[in-house]
Amino acid sequence: MAVLVTGGTGYIGSHTVVELQNAGYDVVVLDNLSNSSPKSLDRVKAITGKDVTFYEGDIRDRKILEKIFDNESIDSCIHFAGLKAVGESVEKPWEYYDNNITGTLTLVDEMRKHNVKNIIFSSSATVYGDPAEIPITENCPKGQCTNPYGWTKSMLEQILSDMYKADNEWNVVLLRYFNPIGAHKSGTMGENPNGIPNNLMPYITQVAVGKREELGVFGNDYDTPDGTGVRDYIHVVDLADGHVKALKKIEENAGLCIYNLGTGTGYSVLDIVKNFEEANDLKIPYSIKPRRAGDIATCYADPAKAKAELGWEAKNGIKEMCADSWRWQKNNPNGYDD
Ligand code: NAD
Ligand code: UFG
Repeated sequence: MAVLVTGGTGYIGSHTVVELQNAGYDVVVLDNLSNSSPKSLDRVKAITGKDVTFYEGDIRDRKILEKIFDNESIDSCIHFAGLKAVGESVEKPWEYYDNNITGTLTLVDEMRKHNVKNIIFSSSATVYGDPAEIPITENCPKGQCTNPYGWTKSMLEQILSDMYKADNEWNVVLLRYFNPIGAHKSGTMGENPNGIPNNLMPYITQVAVGKREELGVFGNDYDTPDGTGVRDYIHVVDLADGHVKALKKIEENAGLCIYNLGTGTGYSVLDIVKNFEEANDLKIPYSIKPRRAGDIATCYADPAKAKAELGWEAKNGIKEMCADSWRWQKNNPNGYDD
């Protein structure tokens, strides 16, 4: 039996494929390469020594889904495929709803037609909106999202929960990621953003490698210890391991489960700059800019539920996250492009 990994050539997906193969799972990847390179799978193979079956295609395309479910013996799906740029989603809401919502509805429909009813879904801490409690437990009410991307995650959580409620043969695990950073220790796999990075760590590594002049720090007047935004940064390999643990949970017929995947520790933007500089013996020039629309002051997880029920907790600290992000960028200044 094999696991279908949609979006498996992307940042989190490719790291998860490594951990799945290391744990003994057979993996089939479906990706339309809209935000990734197939070379990530060559790097996966170099690390694990195992082949990955790859289908290039779109999760909205029923024909390719039928082909996969007919040809491969899939028993579960880890569903990463989706568009994820917050700002772009405000400009192109239809594209985000179509890709993420229509895509997931199509995938889930083909899954049930082929009697595959196990799904792990990439959700996000963004569903908490401006969180009602800190640290955030899974009982914290979902909030108002500030952008269409966030709404797609919130809506898809609802849709998948309702699927389970109507048919208890489903196992649905909703994983709410906090802020994934870091890269595989080999320095051969990592985050590969197109154009100007939206997220903090890829921006910092591009400053470090000389592609950008300085980091803009979006606001220093938040109600946080140093005034800059506080987030729960989590190493991508720890996050990947969380998916392996979630798959084990599904094998116990767990039903509907929701977990935060974070470390439980919040770092400010300036904490990250300082830790990156110390871990890598580098200087990151920065200047303070206005707040970015839609940002919140503080967001970090209470990860106790994932520890208690999945036996999962993050192992890597902030220094390792900073060192691993830099090793990847330094060795691959242009990501997977030569
Ligand atoms: P990514 O862009 O690197 O990976 C997503 C992959 O999905 C890409 O390879 C892309 O080509 C593919 N894809 C997109 N639309 C597709 C479609 N219609 N059909 C087939 N493939 C398609 O992003 P990532 O950081 O690895 O994120 C993976 C998932 O985790 C996404 O759903 C994202 O929303 C979610 N998530 C990410 C973060 C984060 O900060 N990186 C935080 C919370 C949740
Ligand atoms: N920041 C800067 N300068 C930059 C980029 C970011 O100061 O150039 C700051 C932001 O203002 C924020 C912090 O760094 O305070 C983190 O910002 P990111 O863009 O890296 O991450 P976010 O917390 O805004 O969002 C991320 C993902 C979303 C996801 C959310 C919650 O990008 O997809 O975490 O999981 F929804």
